[in-house]
Amino acid sequence: MYEARPLLKTPNLVLFSRRFSRTHQSPSLFISATPSTLIKHPSPSSPTMSSPSPLNTKLLAPSLGHPLTTTTAPFPAPPSPTDVTIHLHAIALNPADAKMLDTGARAASWPLVPGLDGAGTITAVGSAVTRFAPGDAVLALFTPGDGGAAWQTYAVVPEACVARKPAGWSWEQAAGVGVCYLTAVVGVGVGLGMALPFLRGGATEGVVEVASVLVLGGSSGVGAAAVQVLRLARPGVRVLATSSPRHHAHLRALGVEGVVNRASGSLVEDVRAASPGGRGVDAVFDAVGAGATQRDVFEAFGADGPKRYAQVWTGDEEIEVPEGVESVLFRSRDLPKLNGSENVMVALETLLEEGRYKLPLPVKIVGEGWEAVEKGLEGIRKGVSGEKLVVRV
Ligand SMILES: NC(=O)c1ccc[n+]([C@@H]2O[C@H](COP(=O)([O-])OP(=O)(O)OC[C@H]3O[C@@H](n4cnc5c(N)ncnc54)[C@H](OP(=O)(O)O)[C@@H]3O)[C@@H](O)[C@H]2O)c1
Repeated sequence: MYEARPLLKTPNLVLFSRRFSRTHQSPSLFISATPSTLIKHPSPSSPTMSSPSPLNTKLLAPSLGHPLTTTTAPFPAPPSPTDVTIHLHAIALNPADAKMLDTGARAASWPLVPGLDGAGTITAVGSAVTRFAPGDAVLALFTPGDGGAAWQTYAVVPEACVARKPAGWSWEQAAGVGVCYLTAVVGVGVGLGMALPFLRGGATEGVVEVASVLVLGGSSGVGAAAVQVLRLARPGVRVLATSSPRHHAHLRALGVEGVVNRASGSLVEDVRAASPGGRGVDAVFDAVGAGATQRDVFEAFGADGPKRYAQVWTGDEEIEVPEGVESVLFRSRDLPKLNGSENVMVALETLLEEGRYKLPLPVKIVGEGWEAVEKGLEGIRKGVSGEKLVVRV
């Protein structure tokens, strides 16, 4: 795998790169620089004077329901001032990927390059980028479509969508963190209306007073992220979560104080027993759309609490709630509704560095190379349990 050393933006570097490109001295890296960008990328397999850049392999979804194909494109143009170019080493699969390919949900047009989550090495930075340099190991939020999507060798994304990879983490562990963290932040901030003190510029006071929250689907990617974001948002909050019993120990390690078997015949009683004073919970964070089928969960609210229900958008119809319950449907693209939204990945980077945000779920590597993505998607369609599916690329 290509590992790059950090580079500095010095005149020396520019001279050094020119020597490499002119002489083709079998460099392990080709380095080039322009006044507005700094670029570093691996040498192509057969470098030529006219084409020194490696090609960009993209996974392409031709149209709704058609199998993915690979295509090659030129190495991306130098990033615009606030963007960075990332050489992807691992990508993670999300239910949203499969839904986009199978139903067209959130697909702006076809053909498109999918992919929301991944980790890799920065190869170029725009002139206004301040936090990163070529060679930095990062994870990022990607946007399906074309150049900003994750399922390609080189993607170009805004600096604001990038966070440094923790030193001790593998590419695969880092690849699956972004989207679920983002969705959890939006769910806690917008859905539950809680303060987000870890987010610079974020709300410092909640819209409602929430002292206990039940996370439905604690072992899902979004749920395991939400558990942690809730603890960061309000350290004293009592977090309960439902999941299959085999994930209970992991959820306790993430900070859940009351774990409940999601298939229990006495779900409501179990939740109430684990809630403060047995009164029931103030709020519910539904990470998996469980409220659509487990209608009794709405009886787990405390009679005198705010009865706030935050439901992630699953692609299905909005879940109807009983009278007296305040429901907020949220999705990750509601991020701009939050104050401090531009700092969401800066906050993640700090939390990861300080060890305050842990790997939400163990990682399962489904394969290596772009051809393994279809296999991973099959796994997503069948349903996963308490793990994140990733592909080495
Ligand atoms: N709109 C957005 O912006 C956005 C962004 C991200 C995700 N999402 C949506 O959020 C949902 C979750 O995504 P994800 O990536 O977190 O999913 P995931 O990790 O694939 O979810 C799998 C988990 O769901 C749990 N689960 C399923 N039904 C449950 C139930 N009734 N009660 C409790 N747990 C249940 C399973 O728990 P056990 O194995 O313990 O049984 C399993 O661990 C998906 O619908 C996804 O499309 C939306």
